[in-house]
Amino acid sequence: IAAILLTAVISYLLGSISFSIIFTKMFDKKDIRTMGSGNAGMTNVLRTAGMKPGVLTTIFDFLKGVVSCLIGTAIFSALLGTSTELYRYGVYVAGIAVVLGHMYPIFFGFRGGKGVLTTASFLLMITPPVLACDFSVFLILALLTKYVSLGSVVAAATFPFWGWLFSYLFFFRTGEVSLRYMVITTLLLCFLSAFVVGRHHANIGRLIHGTEKKFSLHHDK
Ligand code: G3P
Repeated sequence: IAAILLTAVISYLLGSISFSIIFTKMFDKKDIRTMGSGNAGMTNVLRTAGMKPGVLTTIFDFLKGVVSCLIGTAIFSALLGTSTELYRYGVYVAGIAVVLGHMYPIFFGFRGGKGVLTTASFLLMITPPVLACDFSVFLILALLTKYVSLGSVVAAATFPFWGWLFSYLFFFRTGEVSLRYMVITTLLLCFLSAFVVGRHHANIGRLIHGTEKKFSLHHDK
């Protein structure tokens, strides 16, 4: 319990540091949530505030996910040891908490982003092929259709499968983890997936009605 609480609180607070809001204020003196799609995320910063804040947001939002997962693993290992599979849950507790922090940041009135980039960093920390496969899904769809949100939604809906597949191949088949671990991690991934897809409900509506904006750099400022 101590490991879960400590990891969740630290990761939630790290997730709450919305770099899209910080960098857009720094460069543009505006709140990203009043610009473009109104979303506090990488896509909207690139779209409305420009390259510099966009790239910085991308790097720092991604890094906060990586750092949280590293901290989570370190806390779980320190408190629970590494002789059982329990320490492996550190990355899940941290990953989910950092994404929720990013979506509902305590420092910015609980109005944050959609958690795509932060989820990506968590997928990397589960094991890199999960991110590689899921990012390919995102990239193919986003490049083909120019709808970033379509790539995000489909990638968010499919990452539990990649998470399951590579956990099965790398950890379960090698005997490192139990069936219980597989079930719990799959449930946690499905829970997060539902959250990320749910945060895109407005995008999904616009995609269905054909009114979603195609991506372009720094246009609708
Ligand atoms: O990463 C968020 C993306 O999927 C959609 O962003 O700004 O187009 O709503 P936005």
